[in-house]
Amino acid sequence: MATGIIPRPESVTELPTTFRIDAETVIGASAECRRTAELLAARLRASTGHGIPVVVGPPADSATISLSTSPGLVESAYTVVVEESGVRLTGGDPAGAFHATQTFLQLCPPQVFRRVLLGGVDWTIGGIRVADRPRFGWRGMLVDVARHFFGRNAIFKLVDALALHHMNVLHLHLTDDQGWRVQIDRYPELTRVGSWREFSTADSQYIRPEGAPPVRDHAPHNGYFTKEDLREIVAYAADRFVTVVPEIDLPGHSQAAIAAYPELGNVSGPLDVWTDWGVSRHVLNVEESTMRFYEHVLDEVLEIFPGPFVHIGGDEVPTDEWRTSAAAQARIRQLGLRDESELQGWVTDRFATFLEKRGRRAVGWDEILDHRVPVRTVVMSWRGTAGGIAAARAGHDVVMTPDSETYLYHPQTDDRGEQPLAAEPPVTLRQVYDYDPIPPGLAPSDGARILGAQCQMWTEFVVSERQMHQLVFPRFCAFAEAVWRTGPGDFDDFSDRLAAHAARLHALDIDGFERRPSPGPTESTRFRPAP
Ligand code: ACM
Repeated sequence: MATGIIPRPESVTELPTTFRIDAETVIGASAECRRTAELLAARLRASTGHGIPVVVGPPADSATISLSTSPGLVESAYTVVVEESGVRLTGGDPAGAFHATQTFLQLCPPQVFRRVLLGGVDWTIGGIRVADRPRFGWRGMLVDVARHFFGRNAIFKLVDALALHHMNVLHLHLTDDQGWRVQIDRYPELTRVGSWREFSTADSQYIRPEGAPPVRDHAPHNGYFTKEDLREIVAYAADRFVTVVPEIDLPGHSQAAIAAYPELGNVSGPLDVWTDWGVSRHVLNVEESTMRFYEHVLDEVLEIFPGPFVHIGGDEVPTDEWRTSAAAQARIRQLGLRDESELQGWVTDRFATFLEKRGRRAVGWDEILDHRVPVRTVVMSWRGTAGGIAAARAGHDVVMTPDSETYLYHPQTDDRGEQPLAAEPPVTLRQVYDYDPIPPGLAPSDGARILGAQCQMWTEFVVSERQMHQLVFPRFCAFAEAVWRTGPGDFDDFSDRLAAHAARLHALDIDGFERRPSPGPTESTRFRPAP
């Protein structure tokens, strides 16, 4: 396909005509598309140097690019028509109209994604008719800012990438054993203490010689988002029809919080914000005061994030501390529960119910299914697809996040010499491209519960934005197509389109497409399978 659009639209017809962006170009937009028109104009102004006025209201004769919605299109669907007389961008709703602008930008020279006017660009666009619609409503990406913190500009750039690929959910993993990254006014120690760790583990269990201690770096790591920072991210994303889902991981993955407020934990001595990777054995205690503490935290989180979904974790909860804690055992008896496993279910149920009462829906990792949780709780199936299948059959809405296909902190190929340190085993571009969020064998009525899918960028081994991009791209592009396309995939065609697409992302300062030509022997042999 000459234009190299990603994700591939449902239908594309090239027309024997052209349109030119020039000094006469005017954007006309219906009122509901005003913000999208302003964003499009801002991008075109910066890159083309033309004035690109925006006229909002009934169709204007002067408009050469028109932006509107049509009841004839379904939700988030869109059409793009480029003819000599003008460009028509139409959505089934404002989100669809926004998607139309993102496809239109892909029809422009890649310099449209630069921030300033560069000379020598021909702003002639080939005639085309595009009709497109999404297969799934949840097309997301998780970014772990807890293991390594990434500031707003890195996040804005990822939101730009989400928007360009018609993705619509940004899941921010804000808290973990190794860092607490969200300002909570009532509990300032969460960030004063919990956002710092003394050093980081710089290697991984996948490359460490048998019996050797972890390799440390020699730098404290820190960072957190203020509420204003997060409101800025939420607004930036909302302008691009991306919903931000915050995650406060509990009752495991909580050591940073316990380091800040030792009374949340099960042990008497103070804990550090964790400096290793993996799953800390330290979890929250189940005292009423701890439950209240987290309700207060969630109340502040809800003020920042207006979206319908709030993630409460629930993954990887070692129950050893509860087994040996007199207080936890007393709580189990007081609540009439059988064991520590039921106690974990009780914690999840409590916070899911808490969120429901506030009009939000809880999301949890698939471990939450081991217990009774409200059926409106959304399940993220990360340990393969079994959890997603079971959840859908039990009546939960599901977001598919299987580690085997959607965890982008695994290397892209077998050749470790060309990529940053990563988890194992590889997840190839082809695997991601061929991924189908509907697991085989699911009855259509249960399949309807699969809201969509999400790719995951965990950052244990990722210390720079550059390394993040090296792992995320181009698999992100393949994932976007897997979760958007309504028809069968065509990997060869996708691979052809990727070359043109890489130039767009490069103009957005996003790379990761290059492959190192000849890896050195030490790096190519450094991989050792985990025991
Ligand atoms: C997870 O990877 N622990 C959700």
